[in-house]
Amino acid sequence: SAVKVAVLVGSLRKESFNRKLAHAVERLAPPELSFEHVRVDNLPLYNQDFDQDYPLVCRQLKEQIKAADALLFVTPEYNRSIPGVLKNALDIASRPYGTNAFAGKPGAVVGISVGATGTALAQQHLRNVLAYLDVPLLGQPEVFIKFSDGLIDDEGNIGPPDTRKFLQGFVDRYVAWVRGHAQA
Ligand code: FNR
Repeated sequence: SAVKVAVLVGSLRKESFNRKLAHAVERLAPPELSFEHVRVDNLPLYNQDFDQDYPLVCRQLKEQIKAADALLFVTPEYNRSIPGVLKNALDIASRPYGTNAFAGKPGAVVGISVGATGTALAQQHLRNVLAYLDVPLLGQPEVFIKFSDGLIDDEGNIGPPDTRKFLQGFVDRYVAWVRGHAQA
């Protein structure tokens, strides 16, 4: 049966390597999975005063996430953590207290960076946040990719066969993880 995946990309950059990585993952997935990119660029900075009367765009974000069966986080590393724009979206969609849109939805975290750590430290921070937000996260394989020329093109085609095979292995595990957590 069809599985809807909400994709959160932690970069707003037009030529984002992480958005290309997201497309690469999508291309390697079976057709039963449909991927919808969640906008994080149109959100206000979270303010707890919102909780009295949540802004429309914030409610729309939450509805989009609630309508998904699974989550995919594709994020750069900014100063050894996740970009503020992603944290802001996480804060917005988790509030007001007791209405966390992410709860129970299976997910995975992947990322690509120009640094040798391949977003490992950002992903570790994100895992900490998502544990609190009750997101069952795939443990392995971890996907820490270091950017190099010719690695991924604009359509999400991966150049090196070993990288493609590695990412296919991740996608296969992710699909099984999502299916295993299917909500009745
Ligand atoms: C970076 N970058 C970076 N890379 C890394 O591996 N570890 C890090 O801690 C940081 N820190 C950092 C902070 C800030 C503010 C910027 C703008 C960049 C470099 C980063 O990997 C590179 O800009 C990527 O291209 C960002 O991902 P997107 O936008 O291409 O998806």
